[in-house]
Amino acid sequence: MRITAARFEGAAARPGTGPAAGPPEIAIAGRSNVGKSSLLNAVLGRRGLARTSSTPGRTRQINFFLVNERFRLVDLPGYGFAVGPEAERRAWGPLVERYLRERETLCGVIVIVDLRRGLESEEIELLAFLADVGRPAALVATKADKLRRGAATTAIRKLEGTAGRAVPVIAFSSRTGDGRERFWEIVRTWLDDAPAPRHKGARA
Ligand code: GTP
Ligand code: MG
Repeated sequence: MRITAARFEGAAARPGTGPAAGPPEIAIAGRSNVGKSSLLNAVLGRRGLARTSSTPGRTRQINFFLVNERFRLVDLPGYGFAVGPEAERRAWGPLVERYLRERETLCGVIVIVDLRRGLESEEIELLAFLADVGRPAALVATKADKLRRGAATTAIRKLEGTAGRAVPVIAFSSRTGDGRERFWEIVRTWLDDAPAPRHKGARA
C-alpha cells in the first residue's frame, strides 16, 4: 500500500472519549513493550509518529491515526503492564475491552506477539475474546530480526499450529521492514470487507 498521508487524530484515555467513529479502523493489540507503536511507524514509513520506548507502558491511551484520509490505524495500550498507578492499571481493561467489543467501525485486529516468546495465556485469551465478539484477527510475530532464519521459521510454524485456521500469521520486524507487504495484504482484505464509511457515529 502506498502511504500518501498519515496523521495523529486524537486519543481516548477513558471509554466514551476520543475521535468519533467514522472511517474503518484496524487496531493493533499486544502486551506492553512488544512493539505495537514501532510496527505502526514501520508500516507507515513514518518514524516517530507513534511514540515508542524501551520502558513498558509507553502507550497509555488509545491513539488514532488517519491514513490516506481513508482509514485509521489504532494503537492500543499494552496489556500486562504491571507497574504504574493502580488506577491506570484498572482503567486498561474496560477501555480496551469496550473498544474491541463495541466500536462499530472496527474491521480487524492485529495481535502482536514477540516471535521469541510465542503465544502465552494473554494472547490466547485475547484471540478467544476476538473470536467471541466476531472480530477478524491476525497474528503478527515481531522482532523477527532477533532470531536466525531457521529459528524464526520454526517459531512461525509453531504459532500457525496454535493460532487457528482463521488467523493468519506473519513474521515481522520493525527494524528491517520484513513483513510489511503481508501486513498490508491482510489489512486490505479487511478494509475491502468493511462497510462504506459513515460521517457520524458513536464515540470511542
Ligand atoms: P507499549 O506502548 O509500552 O505497550 O509498547 P509497544 O508495544 O508500543 O512497544 P514499542 O513500539 O514502544 O517498542 C518497545 C521496544 O521494542 C523499543 O525499544 C523498540 O525499539 C523495540 N522494538 C520494537 N519492534 C522491534 C523489532 O521489530 N525489532 C527489534 N529489534 N526491536 C524492536
Ligand atoms: Mg506503544
